[in-house]
Amino acid sequence: MKNMLITGGAGFIGSNFVRYLLRIEPEVQIVNLDALTYAGSLENLRDLPDPARHTFIHGDICEPGLVTRLMSEHGIDTLVHCAAESHVDRSIHGPAPFIQTNIVGTFTLLEAARQVWGETGGFEGRRFHHVSTDEVFGSLAAESPAFGETTPYDPRSPYSASKAGSDHLVRAYFHTYGLPVTLTNCSNNYGPYQFPEKLIPLMILNALRGRPLPVYGDGRQVRDWLYVEDHCEAIQLVLAKGKPGETYNIGGGNQPCNIDIVRQICTLLDELHPEGAPHERLITHVPDRPGHDRRYAMDIAKIRAELGWAPRHNLTSGLRATVEWYLGHPEWVAVIAQQSGYNDWLEKNYAQRGGKA
Ligand code: NAD
Ligand code: DAU
Repeated sequence: MKNMLITGGAGFIGSNFVRYLLRIEPEVQIVNLDALTYAGSLENLRDLPDPARHTFIHGDICEPGLVTRLMSEHGIDTLVHCAAESHVDRSIHGPAPFIQTNIVGTFTLLEAARQVWGETGGFEGRRFHHVSTDEVFGSLAAESPAFGETTPYDPRSPYSASKAGSDHLVRAYFHTYGLPVTLTNCSNNYGPYQFPEKLIPLMILNALRGRPLPVYGDGRQVRDWLYVEDHCEAIQLVLAKGKPGETYNIGGGNQPCNIDIVRQICTLLDELHPEGAPHERLITHVPDRPGHDRRYAMDIAKIRAELGWAPRHNLTSGLRATVEWYLGHPEWVAVIAQQSGYNDWLEKNYAQRGGKA
């Protein structure tokens, strides 16, 4: 692992992964390919450790010429594919970019890897790692066991269906062409640099602005929350020790329901930013997300047993660190909100719901 291409490295998980790798892998050279959609920003890549080992390329993973050129010119031996359209609510409003980036984009990268590596020494010592989601498995009933690596796929939103399609393509390239792929399916991440359309940063920022905290439906849905740095560590371990063709489930094992997460955020803000307390008074139930998955939970026995990974953070410490990070980075919040048409998104997603965000 010397020359790595990271796609989507200006987004939430990608930028955290770039930072993490530069810190712990002293030899690796990183090429970061990102289209800088609303979700990506160079603000996420400020103050990198050892920035000389990081090259940013502004471009689209769906462009075959660009991707093959980057792989050849930089002698890429490892590709970590994070780029995606990632927000379920946006996939409900407009699914087309999800099909394009998540399916066509993944196909474009697989073809580039097959071609470039095939023509320059073969697949030995190379790796294509695909970062995917627990949402491909569908929705769990309250009593059902957690998702395992062999749970049948049952995606229920345009986002998760497009991620499922990309996972199938990645596995097909392993079985058909012998491309050395690995996959990780991970649960909900949270932490620094997360775009504030997702539950946790949205609630923090709305509370700071004295806006309603829009809880979908009854708020009893359950996610399996993981601090983003734990996810980065798991990906790095899969690159180092994972077997080609294998999939590893990743999760945090913390499972309070949404309304309890929102209450915990309010309590933290009451302590760390007492102005506006009690923040719970802002909680507003709004009409539910269509097709809303009720519960996710990940069985992480495989990655724990085979690679020795387990999360280091629990939700209490991770949420506190996250609230502190957002409170400590008002400039980041201001630039991100301004760059990305954020207020238009709030208007589009929440105005018709009745509870104005
Ligand atoms: P994000 O939306 O924060 O970032 C996505 C990045 O991809 C952005 O920087 C964006 O500019 C870039 N991008 C989008 N389309 C592109 C294109 N066509 N070409 C190049 N770059 C493009 O997403 P995230 O939350 O960091 O998620 C990263 C990956 O992890 C995704 O594949 C997602 O499905 C997966 N995942 C996310 C979570 C989570 O909780 N956030 C959990 C499990 C898996
Ligand atoms: O499970 C992994 C997935 O987690 C990733 O693949 C996705 O990229 C990521 O966006 C995330 O999907 P979710 O839909 O679970 O995350 P989101 O933050 O959008 O919502 C979390 C829960 O909170 C979900 O039950 C919906 C609810 N919610 C969300 C928002 C934005 C609300 O109640 N109100 C809100 O305003």
